[in-house]
Amino acid sequence: MTLDVVILAAGQGTRMRSKTPKVLHELAGRPLVQHVVDTAAGLESARLHVVVGHGGESVRETLASAGSTSGDGELGFCEQTEQKGTGHAVAQALNSLGDGKVLVLYGDVPLIQARTLETLLDGVDEQHMALLTVTLDDPTGYGRIVRNDKGAVIAIVEHKDASDKQRAIRECNTGIMAMTAAQLRRWLPELSAENAQGEYYLTDVIAMAAADGVEVTASQPSSPVEVEGVNDRRQLAALERAYQRRQADRLMTAGVSLADPERFDLRGDVTVGRDIRIDVNVILEGRVTLEDDVVIGPHCVIKDSILRRGAVVKANSHLEGAEMGEGSDCGPFARLRPGTRLGAKAHVGNFVETKNASLGDGVKAGHLSYLGDTEIGRDTNIGAGTITCNYDGANKHLTRIGEAVFVGSNSALVAPVTIGNGATIAAGSTITREVKDDELAIGRSRQIVKQGWQRPVKMPKS
Ligand code: UD1
Ligand code: CA
Repeated sequence: MTLDVVILAAGQGTRMRSKTPKVLHELAGRPLVQHVVDTAAGLESARLHVVVGHGGESVRETLASAGSTSGDGELGFCEQTEQKGTGHAVAQALNSLGDGKVLVLYGDVPLIQARTLETLLDGVDEQHMALLTVTLDDPTGYGRIVRNDKGAVIAIVEHKDASDKQRAIRECNTGIMAMTAAQLRRWLPELSAENAQGEYYLTDVIAMAAADGVEVTASQPSSPVEVEGVNDRRQLAALERAYQRRQADRLMTAGVSLADPERFDLRGDVTVGRDIRIDVNVILEGRVTLEDDVVIGPHCVIKDSILRRGAVVKANSHLEGAEMGEGSDCGPFARLRPGTRLGAKAHVGNFVETKNASLGDGVKAGHLSYLGDTEIGRDTNIGAGTITCNYDGANKHLTRIGEAVFVGSNSALVAPVTIGNGATIAAGSTITREVKDDELAIGRSRQIVKQGWQRPVKMPKS
């Protein structure tokens, strides 16, 4: 059976007070609607239809450019030029639907879980539709679930249309529901806008189902945050914390120690081994792999990187597109930029910046360096203040440094240049020509010493 998922994302989100459409505000580094699309795309044989309106063009572009992260689900768009209610919104997708099941989701309800949706969809056939409900202490504003004396769901009444007796009901409509496409085709054209808000309410299909002899199967999410929507920035922040707490719990369950689960943020995907220790205020972004025994100090940002077994990142380091070899370490205050590869047991110390740089096993660059567009052989020592001058103002050039080289402090290596194995570069050198294996290169002016030198003395004021 086919599954068509209709994701409503046409609303403006006035209370966000933003030029950005609400569904493009980010949670854990991904737009709200992207979370919904990614979850829905994981459902079996799902085809996705996003109903766009306000900021439709940017919603389309954002989702289309994320393409590959949206699983296998096909992604289509429907335009709702005027927002005439949730029923009207779903109707915009009617012509694109197949003959199987239809699931209605919301672009501003980001934390819905696939398991909850699978349970919901199991409750749908020709004689049944399915509704996700939630029982709230304060149901103000929500549509209320009306049941008959046998407990069967017979209607949803919107808060603004409800009687005092109905407002006392605490079981609420989450908005998420599923039915067959045939049922939807029967009911949607029957909706009317004669209600307090003058809108075509999707919720009115519940009463139509009851009248049609179609039973409404109600189920609940495992946690209420799954069905919480974002209307303002405070709710967005609250859901961000709920999401991050969930990530932290998952990692701790997998064998990761977090110094403080409230001060950890994952904005992407992380693959973890065991016995990893993560100190406070660490942010992981994109795709990160942490093998066994990795240690990450406080205040680090690590993006799209691989940390091999036992690698140590010390406080305040910033990694992007880097690979750290087994037992290597960096920081405090290291910056590893894209294309950095540290070999096993390599060491990069404070205020060292690397970019497109491959440091072999056991290489040490302890202090204050820029290493860009360079290949450095094993066991080489890079002295404090060494700079690879890789850019001539127009093009970038490579610096090749062999194995077991000693580069003295404050050396400038002007690329393109090659330094052979076992070579020594005297401190303070500017190296512009090749240095062969085991040679000593001194590229600085000779020291002059003047004997009997008299320091100038201060002239008396006249
Ligand atoms: C809706 C439900 C209510 C439920 C609540 C849960 C209806 C009539 N009511 O109320 O029973 O308790 O959600 O949060 O369905 N949208 C469009 N196009 C439109 C109208 C809405 O895309 O024409 C989108 C909005 O952007 C929003 C979602 O649908 O993301 C819900 O619409 P909203 O008007 O906020 O419905 P509620 O009044 O919250
Ligand atoms: Ca709402």
